[in-house]
Amino acid sequence: MQTQNASETAQRIGVPRELFPLEKRVATVPEVVEKLIKLGFKVAVESGAGDAAHCSDDAYRAVGAEVLPDAKTLWAQSDIVFKVRAPSADEVALMHPGQALIGFIWPAQNPELMQQLAAAKVTVLSMDALPRTLSRAQKMDALTSMAGVSGYRAVVEAANAFGRFFNGQITAAGKVAPAKVFIAGAGVAGLAAIGAAASLGAIVRANDTRAEVADQVVSLGGEFVKVDYEEEGSGGGGYAKVMSEGFQQAQRAMYAQQAREVDIIITTALIPGKPAPKLITAEMVKSMKPGSVIVDMAAEQGGNCELTEPGQAVVKHGVTIVGFTDLASRMAKQSSTLYATNLFRLTEELCKTKNGIINVNMEDDAIRGLTVIKDGAITWPAPAPKVAAVPAAPKAAVAVAEKKPSHGHGPGEPMSAQSLSILFGVAAVLFWFIGAYAPAAFLGHFTVFVLACFIGYMVVWNVTPSLHTPLMSVTNAISSIIAIGALVQIAAPVEMAGVLNMIGAGTLSRPEGLIRGLAVGALVLTAVNMFGGFAVTQRMLAMFRK
Ligand code: NAI
Repeated sequence: MQTQNASETAQRIGVPRELFPLEKRVATVPEVVEKLIKLGFKVAVESGAGDAAHCSDDAYRAVGAEVLPDAKTLWAQSDIVFKVRAPSADEVALMHPGQALIGFIWPAQNPELMQQLAAAKVTVLSMDALPRTLSRAQKMDALTSMAGVSGYRAVVEAANAFGRFFNGQITAAGKVAPAKVFIAGAGVAGLAAIGAAASLGAIVRANDTRAEVADQVVSLGGEFVKVDYEEEGSGGGGYAKVMSEGFQQAQRAMYAQQAREVDIIITTALIPGKPAPKLITAEMVKSMKPGSVIVDMAAEQGGNCELTEPGQAVVKHGVTIVGFTDLASRMAKQSSTLYATNLFRLTEELCKTKNGIINVNMEDDAIRGLTVIKDGAITWPAPAPKVAAVPAAPKAAVAVAEKKPSHGHGPGEPMSAQSLSILFGVAAVLFWFIGAYAPAAFLGHFTVFVLACFIGYMVVWNVTPSLHTPLMSVTNAISSIIAIGALVQIAAPVEMAGVLNMIGAGTLSRPEGLIRGLAVGALVLTAVNMFGGFAVTQRMLAMFRK
């Protein structure tokens, strides 16, 4: 009976067919529908919504989704609508008060749409408004997953238009030189393009105004080409800033040289809210070898190349210039699956109780950032989130600390005197109990264990969230040192005798040769883990250094 009540109150998530020209993606895929149903939701899909992404109506039905015949029925019967592109005015007209919409809305670019949605008295979560600096929000970051797919696809498009191999080959018919690829802008899309081009065997070079991405370029198999001009290019939050005229001149000279040398240029340079910087001039295009290719990913924002025609692939001065603006949609199955997973992760955050009902909690930094309209009231833009993954400037940190209430505690905050005394009281009673009843040897080990836990807790608790991944790898390396300590003891029979006697196992026979052999083998393996751990940590930390 209870189950029946729960399914009666469960909200229905509706997924309409995308209407935007050339859009092939769909906001959920059958693999994800199953997970949404497990969270307690009902799922409905408009007939044919997934066709272009190779998700048939039958595949949705097979996992428990309802397939509704048309958009009108779907919008009318859904409590929450998942979309990829912003809705058209006709779609907004189908919405009803209290409904929730989740998709890419781009509120800054679509003020009129925002007004229409607010008038419809709905709640809107815009995937592009996610505070990307929150490390917790990464699993919901659809901009990143879409840019990753697009960067990969840009390389595929380049390979399609390029009449040669990417990798160098020595064949019976002659030697083939590897293709040279230059990537302008090493953000999410640029890094994905570097990885894809390098894995095809090309020689990959990349440039970005933010010097901190150099290590990432190298780790993906590329070479970072610096502009011969000293200027800090980071504008905060992982984005670039507009550079000085002096820098731009030096950058143009470097790009002109690259244009003469390389076969393929993929441009991804962008500063949010600004027209794309013009990095590749008509002269540079002219200087490229015939048969070369430019893929201009920033085509929709005006293009990084002067000769780009948005949405088209054109040949100018013997160079193919690809300006497609639907790169993610050209890999619809892949991008729909990733996008659907981002939406599922968001739904998990919205429905922590797993009862099929969402709660748009405006106290949650990630949800607050995403929510651009709440019950008809425009709530965009959201204030900056309180916890940033990138260490905040000292001044900002002080301001945030001042706002925090004095009770309760979080990372880095001291405990209140009352909770401290309760904690110490409980610990003292526990120690007395152990001291009175446990064997003497146990107490010593237990004290070391408690102190280790305390120090470990204090160290981890005070580490900035963005450094948790390097911390994990260094902990891995350190744990290997502990293993080495244990192995040294096993391998040292003289000192071990005392320990074995102490625990009453002194009379056990020890096949010394075998133990030594095992210890040496284990030592080698742990050494790999340990030094590898330290090396990886160093590499990760280097990414955080300017
Ligand atoms: P992002 O913001 O992560 O990366 C842009 C990069 O360009 C940043 O690393 C920035 O430092 C760099 N940059 C800015 N000005 C520069 C300059 N003057 N010289 C060199 N580097 C500079 O953006 P993301 O997500 O990687 O997207 C890149 C571009 O691709 C954007 O224009 C985006 O709109 C576009 N895009 C296009 C798609 C398509 O279908 N054509 C699909 C997805 C993204």
